[in-house]
Amino acid sequence: MMIPKTPVLEVQDLRVSFFTPARELQAVRGVSFALGAGETLGIVGESGSGKTVTALSVLGLLADTGKITGGELRFHGRDLARASQKTLREIRGKKIAMIFQDPASSLNPLMSIGKQVGEMFIAHPETLDPLDREPDSRYGGRRLLRRGPSGKEIDRRVTALLSGVQIPDGGKRRHFYPHELSGGMRQRVMIAMALACKPEILIADEPTTALDLTIQSQIIRLLKDAGAETGMSTIFITHDLGLVAELCSRAMVMYAGMILEEAAVDDLFDAPSHPYTLGLFNSTPGMETGAARELRPIPGSHPDMIRPPPGCPFSPRCASAAPQCFAAPPPRRAIGGPESGHFARCWLL
Ligand SMILES: Nc1ncnc2c1ncn2[C@@H]1O[C@H](COP(=O)(O)OP(=O)(O)OP(=O)(O)O)[C@@H](O)[C@H]1O
Ligand SMILES: [Mg+2]
Repeated sequence: MMIPKTPVLEVQDLRVSFFTPARELQAVRGVSFALGAGETLGIVGESGSGKTVTALSVLGLLADTGKITGGELRFHGRDLARASQKTLREIRGKKIAMIFQDPASSLNPLMSIGKQVGEMFIAHPETLDPLDREPDSRYGGRRLLRRGPSGKEIDRRVTALLSGVQIPDGGKRRHFYPHELSGGMRQRVMIAMALACKPEILIADEPTTALDLTIQSQIIRLLKDAGAETGMSTIFITHDLGLVAELCSRAMVMYAGMILEEAAVDDLFDAPSHPYTLGLFNSTPGMETGAARELRPIPGSHPDMIRPPPGCPFSPRCASAAPQCFAAPPPRRAIGGPESGHFARCWLL
């Protein structure tokens, strides 16, 4: 059964736009999904389809010009779309953590990596198990429980966390600055920061795009293990269908700010239904469908979200588009019965 039984996050008809005085760019246009406890949900789609904006909305990290114009983001009964910055700050990093798409700009170049990872513990000391605290003689041990963690304790935890993400010799490496580490090592630091407070939800936004294949698979294994160990739920954003197959139990195909198809990964790969999903498969080496099994890039390009097409957003590029596809957005329809958890938005299905 693909509909998660106990959702930790429920997104309902999310709408996000970026505004300038002259125009509105509609980045997310009615996205709904539920993330189950312990589940890894993939979001796949072309550049500009709204994957990152969806993720940033959950964390309340949209740019100043960005605004949630509709919908709900339910987390433990709370609507994050309407939460105060104070509430969001408490949740961010501690309950919902994110590995950002661009690790180079997310790490502070002027601060050692140990200090940056350690800041997570300083920001959320309550996530540390007090019994596990190292007594500090200056404060008679016990009083320390009400204070923040000691410097020594943070160092110990940072070293443990770095070794957990396979940064060898973390005791020494924690003094390194980001530029002294390779791209793969920097990405591990980002993961360590994201995992520091044992979040309930991890959002990983293209966490391996800039890395070579060997490092990529090490990072994927790391994320897999972290999820299995803590029961954390993960939203995994990627262009890469192969990674979706490897890591996710369910996936959503996003295009022009909408979810065009959604299914358990096995169903999606066995029976991709939306012409856009088929296009994605047929333009990915090794994933081609149909008898010819030839690689066919999708013609045309992603629409400009200032003036999105009025009908199905994919209609201008769709070889099967019929007149109604250009007229109105398609309804969400169940594929293989309502219990299948497989949905697509296409007039032709
Ligand atoms: N800060 C911003 N100001 C204005 N427009 C933005 C901003 N951030 C994103 N957008 C626009 O919102 C739309 C969705 O962008 P988003 O970054 O979510 O795409 P994406 O699916 O993550 O793409 P990629 O695969 O390239 O990361 C795009 O049209 C993008 O140009
Ligand atoms: Mg993105």
